[in-house]
Amino acid sequence: MIIVFIMFKLLTRSASVAALLLMGGCALLSSRCPLEETECLRRTYSRAPQYWPRPVIDEGVRWRELAPISTPQAADSPKVRLGKMLFHETRLSADNSIACRHCHLPAYGFAEPKKVSSGVGGRLGRRNSISLLHLSEPQHFFFWDGRARTLEQQVLMPISDPVEMDLSLSKVVPRLAESGYAPYFQTAFGRDIDLQGVADALAAYLRTLRPQPTRFDRFLLGEADALNDSELRGLHLFRTKARCLNCHSGPMMTDGLMHNLNQALPGRPAQDLGQYAHSGRLEDWGKFKTPSLRNLSRSKPWFHHGLFVNLRGIVAIYNNGMQFGIPANAPPEAYENRLDPLIKPLGLSPSERQDLTAFLEVL
Ligand code: HEC
Ligand code: HEC
Repeated sequence: MIIVFIMFKLLTRSASVAALLLMGGCALLSSRCPLEETECLRRTYSRAPQYWPRPVIDEGVRWRELAPISTPQAADSPKVRLGKMLFHETRLSADNSIACRHCHLPAYGFAEPKKVSSGVGGRLGRRNSISLLHLSEPQHFFFWDGRARTLEQQVLMPISDPVEMDLSLSKVVPRLAESGYAPYFQTAFGRDIDLQGVADALAAYLRTLRPQPTRFDRFLLGEADALNDSELRGLHLFRTKARCLNCHSGPMMTDGLMHNLNQALPGRPAQDLGQYAHSGRLEDWGKFKTPSLRNLSRSKPWFHHGLFVNLRGIVAIYNNGMQFGIPANAPPEAYENRLDPLIKPLGLSPSERQDLTAFLEVL
């Protein structure tokens, strides 16, 4: 009996040692296999993200791993339903013609397929409409130039903006009262219509929006063949040599922070000094908010000025390290280099640029 027990112990111990050896061997194999080989990349990226290759992240950068999109919580409360009604309400504009939805179209990732937006009376704004699909994540800057600091503060600003809805905020409550909104505010907040309720309802609705899951989400959820070879190599480049994860990280692929990418275009017709224009601090010169890259193909054209219409071109300017000439008539401040130090020339080969573009197209 004792002999049998000892033999059993020995056997199970050697079995677990063998299992351990086997696991270690596999880990060694997969970390040793050459990542330039697509088959090896696929094997490595088929594992959970904690086993993925270490990304290229500069010192001091706070980042999160890429992750699948979550489903909305409490998507159907009376507050959210009211927010959705308000989002579609043209009476929130001076001439009853424009609702939020006018420039944030669901089919275009809640952005708009135009270079810059037009509001009441066809008045043109200065910037490209930004996608609203990332607002479920807590963040500290709103608008391309970060001039609003909470979503509740932000959502009232388009209403009174003269080139958007152009309605004085003092008129909002009477307009909604005339339109029969009182019962909806009672159900949502247990009180009469007020501006705080308008802001809270709109913000609550926007926080329920989510990007459409794509093949990339299926890949992240374990379907190893959901990305083709080129897209897979693009994912690896995005996290490593191309340095994109330094700013476009987490499930929504944004750090929600402000960066200068030399897009202020000083001295040119589209000059826009970004955060500096409202803060007046030189360190904010040309800074814009990192947009989410989820459902990117829907929110074309891109960047705050809407001047970029193809993703290959965007990859090319990142590859060049965002170097642009400065015209002679630019303000003197423009000559000092304030490019974000996270932006560097990348040295991507033509086929690597193609792979990175293919990855961006699947987001
Ligand atoms: C006339 C077009 C237009 C209308 C109408 C409009 N927006 Fe916008 N929206 C834009 C543009 C353009 C931007 C980017 C502007 C900027 O950054 O200066 C923007 C930015 C935003 C942002 C910032 C998102 C972020 O990540 O920082 C939110 C939120 C938003 N709009 C919500 C709304 C809501 C809510 C309404 C209705 C009350 C509305 N918008 C009406 C064009 C419009
Ligand atoms: C230093 C931070 C930073 C890094 C690194 C970075 N980005 Fe960006 N990205 C931004 C900011 C900020 C913007 C918006 C700039 C603007 O509009 O002026 C942006 C805009 C974009 C856009 C346009 C999205 C839209 O909705 O308009 C794309 C596409 C993009 N980046 C892809 C990439 C890729 C690919 C890489 C890696 C090669 C990368 N980014 C690296 C910060 C960064």
